[in-house]
Formats: sequence, structure tokens, C-alpha cells
Amino acid sequence: MAEAAAPERQMKRALSAFDLTCLGIGAIIGAGIFALAGTAAAGEHALAVGSLWKTPVLNFIISYLTHADLVFGRPGAGPAVVFSFIVAAIACGFAALCYAELAAMIPVSGSAYTYSYATLGEIVAWIIGWDLILEYAVGNMAVAVGWSGYFVKLCGSLFGIKFPLWVVSDYKTATDILAKGGDALGDFSSTALPVIGGHPIAVNLPAFLIVAAVTALLVYGIRESARTNTTIVLIKVAVVVFVISFGAFMVHPTNWHPFVPNGFGGVMSGAAIVFFAFIGFDAVSTTAEETKNPQRDLPIGMIASLIICTLLYVLMSGVLTGIKKYTVYLGDSAAVATAFASKPWAQALVSAGALAGLTSVLLVFQLGQPRIFMAMARDGLLPQYFARIHSRFRTPYVTTIWTGVAVGGVAMLTDIGSLADLTNIGTLFAFALVCLGVLMLRRKDPGRLRPFRVPMVPILPLLGVFFCAALMLSLPLETWGRFFVWLAIGMLIYFGYSVRHSKLRHGIDAGPTEDIPPPLIKT
Ligand code: ALA
Repeated sequence: MAEAAAPERQMKRALSAFDLTCLGIGAIIGAGIFALAGTAAAGEHALAVGSLWKTPVLNFIISYLTHADLVFGRPGAGPAVVFSFIVAAIACGFAALCYAELAAMIPVSGSAYTYSYATLGEIVAWIIGWDLILEYAVGNMAVAVGWSGYFVKLCGSLFGIKFPLWVVSDYKTATDILAKGGDALGDFSSTALPVIGGHPIAVNLPAFLIVAAVTALLVYGIRESARTNTTIVLIKVAVVVFVISFGAFMVHPTNWHPFVPNGFGGVMSGAAIVFFAFIGFDAVSTTAEETKNPQRDLPIGMIASLIICTLLYVLMSGVLTGIKKYTVYLGDSAAVATAFASKPWAQALVSAGALAGLTSVLLVFQLGQPRIFMAMARDGLLPQYFARIHSRFRTPYVTTIWTGVAVGGVAMLTDIGSLADLTNIGTLFAFALVCLGVLMLRRKDPGRLRPFRVPMVPILPLLGVFFCAALMLSLPLETWGRFFVWLAIGMLIYFGYSVRHSKLRHGIDAGPTEDIPPPLIKT
């Protein structure tokens, strides 16, 4: 905290509790409800999925214990996707309370990374910081891909503009579309892929361009970005309310039978997918140094945004499975547009809303990631170059630009499903560690002033760990494999670079704190 208070490191304190709630909603409502809710309801067929490796671990264990047939593929939740949303929301609720306690105690940029640095030590902090890249940067790659999909739909439905498949799609998605028999919906002007050096080429150009635009806005300045975000969030919430209220009149209750087609396994598998829809409330905590009154505003911002979104999701997913049979949404990443297919004006409106929604998610995530890198650089775990603040705009411009290049570059080349699963496992792991961090700090430093306290400790943080673990176990084994590879790369960097440059290890950060009285300690 003393380091962050140094004058050359100061950022603008411009954000209020309302701004933070909007930032939270801006990060929360996005690809999860618009692009992934359909998949959670319909599941992935064994045939589409291909192998046992896609079987969620939890289903595997349940089938083993109950001697039921092994469930191949990914069972959908059906209309019970509303329960999936509730399960995921409960897990996030516990994590949000723990985030709020730590964020209010340690109001410094860097989110779970900073809290674990202060509570669990450097190596755990490194693991979390590295893991949060999956949440912020990889999550944003998935959102950029979703943005591109709705952008193409809107250009087609509003202006009749169609693009060649190869400039609006990654190679894997393009080949999937071709394998399914080509452009059945007539979305593209051509489906031929150009061949360069013997390889067919496909790149998702809109995904790259939107990331570039958002990056430029964030380098320009935080207050301007928050104001833009507030406007977009209002539009987005209006569209979600429209889907719920207008869609309610299109519901045929017979579509809700059977309500729980795949039992508990389906609900959990759906919850592991729609968990993505809640990620983002914690991004609020990464703006601690830019908040006017972090002790009060951070908990309000996170918890208020989570409650509002849970309510909207349950209503909206209930309406979606009521308008059309859940099986219709199989393999559909634009379920909301599909639900309104019979009313073109409503479909265009909803697509525009989805675009606004996804844009605000991109904004908050692109805002959060550079601040985490910056916090890691301050501690010497990444090169100092990453801690630079722009002299005029007061923004962490170096990390913002590098994040933009990486996110835009990968989003241009990868499919949404793999990116979202990897994001979920990384985020769930970080949430579980944050819950453990609260427990540890209550034991290690019980006297420290806590402007916000998690009620019923240790029960609620332990329930948080339990729910996060259950959702992680409901993700495909394939995702677990990728997650371990990612953590292994992180360990290589930690022991190859960070250990030698760590300020903590060289006693460097002990200095500046000596003369400054610690403001949060009770006397
Ligand atoms: N919660 C964010 C979304 O749904 C990540 O897009």
C-alpha cells in the first residue's frame, strides 16, 4: 500500500460506487448469457464431442459410483439451466464476499494476486497472478470471438452486408462450418478459404479490430473509459430486460418439459459452462487505486453487480428455454438471436444489445489484466518495464498495449468453446484460493481493521472452496490438461526469472513502509 502511494505511481482517483457497480455489470453480462447459455442448456453431443476425454470428471465419478452408464459428451441442463445459473451464482457469491473482505482491506491494484501476495506469500501469489491471465486475457479472447459472431449477424440482418467466411472466423470454426455442410444460414458472402503455402487460411478480423479499439480507449484514460462503460451498460441491461419481458409472451410452457432432462450431472455440467457468465465482478477490485473510497465502494460494487446479474440471468435463461425447446440450441453460440428468429426486428435489437454487452465486458477485462501485470512488476516478479504509467494519461500503457496485442492476436485464431472452458478452470482455482486467503488472514492477523467482514467464518469461505472445486470437477478432462500445462509454464518463468528479481527476496519493499504509519491497523 505504501508503494502504491508513491507520487510517481499514483493513478487518478475518479471512480464512485455507482461507477464500480456499472463496471461489475459491464464485466458480468456478456458472452456467458449471450453465447454460452444455449450450450449449457443443450449440452454437447457425444458425436460432436468425440471422446471420453470430453467427459466432465464429476459425471465420470458419479457414473462410476452409481454404476450407471458412462455419460459421454457433455450432458445439457435443459430448462434446468436456471438451476445451473443459481449453482454458479452461489459459488460466485461466496467468492465475492471473500473478495470484498480482501479488497476493502488491501485497496491496491492487482486483485487476487495482491491479496495472496499479502496473505499467502510470493509463490502462491505468482501462481494466482499467472492463473488470472486465464480469467482476464483468455476470457477476453473468448468474448472477442463472441463479439465477432454477433457483429457478423448484425451487419447481415441490418445492412445486408456479408463477409467471406475466412475473414470473420478462425480456422477450426471455419472447418466445422464447412464440415456441417457449409453456410446453411447464408451468413457469409463466400465460404472458400484462400490457400497460402499449401495451408488454407482463416482469421477472425473483427475480433482483432474490436480488441485494438478497446485498447486504444484504455490507454487514453480511466475516467473516459468508465463513462463510456456506464452508457453501454445501461443499453445492455435495457436489452436484457427487453428479452425477458417481451420474450415472456412468447413462452410455451410445454417447452419446459422435461425440466431436468439429464439430472444432477446435467445441471452441474451446465453450471461449469455458465460460470463464465458471472466472471467479472472481481474485476472491480482491480481498480482499487482509481476508486474514490475503496473501503466502502468495492464491496458495494461487487455484491450489487452480482445480485442484479443473477436475477437477470435466471429470468432470461428461463425465457430462452420457454420460447424454444432447449435442444434447438445445440451447437448454437447465438441462442438469443435464435430464440427471436420469428421476429426479425427483435432479433436485430437483441443482436445490437449483445454487441454492446460484449463490448463492455472487453473494456473491463482489458482494464483489469494490465493492472495485475503492473502489480506483479512492482513486486519484481515481472520486468519493471511493465510497471510504467503514462506521464500524461496516468494509465499503465505498456501493459495495456501488450495485453491488447496478445488478446487480439490469439482471438483472431482460436474458437470460443476451448477459450471459455480454460477461463473457467483458471478463475475457479483463483476464487478457491481467495476464499482460503480470507481464512488464513483471519488467523494470522486477526486484529487488522476489516472495513468489510465475511459473515459466518469459516463456514462461508469453506463453502466457497467446496463450490469452486465441484464446478472445476464438472469441466472436461481436456481442460484440466491445458490448465496444468499453463501452470507448468508459469513455474518455469517463476524459477527462471522472478525468483532472481523478486523484491521480497532481496528485502527491497521493506524500505518505503518504514516511515509511513499503517493506516488500517487498529490501535
Ligand atoms: N461474464 C463475462 C461474460 O459473460 C465474462 O462474457
